[in-house]
Amino acid sequence: MSDRDHYVAANRQAWNEAAPRHAARNQAQLCRQFADGNYSCLAEEVVAMLERVGVTGKSAVQIACNNGRDLLSLKNMGAGRCLGIDQAEAFLEQARELAEIAGHGDDVSFIEADIYALPAGLKRQFDIVMTTVGVLGWMPDLDGFFRAVSDLIVPGGHWVMEEMHPVLMMYEPDENGGPSRPLHSYFQTEPFVETTGLDYYGYEQYASKPHYSFTHKMSDIVNAGARVGLELQYMHEVGRNISNFCADLERAEARPPMGLFMLWRKK
Ligand SMILES: C[S@@+](CC[C@H](N)C(=O)[O-])C[C@H]1O[C@@H](n2cnc3c(N)ncnc32)[C@H](O)[C@@H]1O
Repeated sequence: MSDRDHYVAANRQAWNEAAPRHAARNQAQLCRQFADGNYSCLAEEVVAMLERVGVTGKSAVQIACNNGRDLLSLKNMGAGRCLGIDQAEAFLEQARELAEIAGHGDDVSFIEADIYALPAGLKRQFDIVMTTVGVLGWMPDLDGFFRAVSDLIVPGGHWVMEEMHPVLMMYEPDENGGPSRPLHSYFQTEPFVETTGLDYYGYEQYASKPHYSFTHKMSDIVNAGARVGLELQYMHEVGRNISNFCADLERAEARPPMGLFMLWRKK
């Protein structure tokens, strides 16, 4: 097994393990919110990029869609056929429940797949790819990820990307409630290995399966897009907490960039 496949397989176990914990915190409230018919949990910057490219009737796919709440929010904006892809089946069960409640059971579907091994037949099928915060950091092979994303998009289509800012990956929260501090090099190439769980809602630590995350420099992100024929049309950085990771930094005097928004167009 390649290193990449090893990391992906380990992360799949850790995410499936985390799913019931996330559901216990969120699912009931999300069910109520999506029953309303018009709910959106998308960040205003994501909505602005989606409005800029236009969503009405367009086909859309969300990669690493987790419990589907962001894809269902995009569907609520008027998108056409929508597909969510994630490799953690336990989260997709939650997504399917939300889709039914939102009334989108027929035109929003979810498949379990590793982004590096997508089923045949998905190439050039989507006007819009969306990824929302917390995806790039799970990708051991950035170029392979960008290739997979680009392959999904029709020529002239777009990728709307929301992400943790790479600079934020230098920081660690303080276990005793003090300020988060930069403890890692921006240029780190080794994965972060953790066994304290994935509860970024309640910050509860538990003995988890090991999971592996990665930091990718801004230049690597920009160059990866250029290599696969994606044109960067817009980029925006914010100093606001969008990921629940080291959230205190948004109030720090020396506030680092925390969120990254990019709009890519497939040539
Ligand atoms: C932090 S969550 C994304 C959360 C999303 N922004 C949201 O708020 O719903 C990351 C997701 O990436 C998925 N993932 C990680 N590696 C993947 C891979 N190789 N292929 C497909 N999904 C993957 C995980 O299963 C997890 O659901």
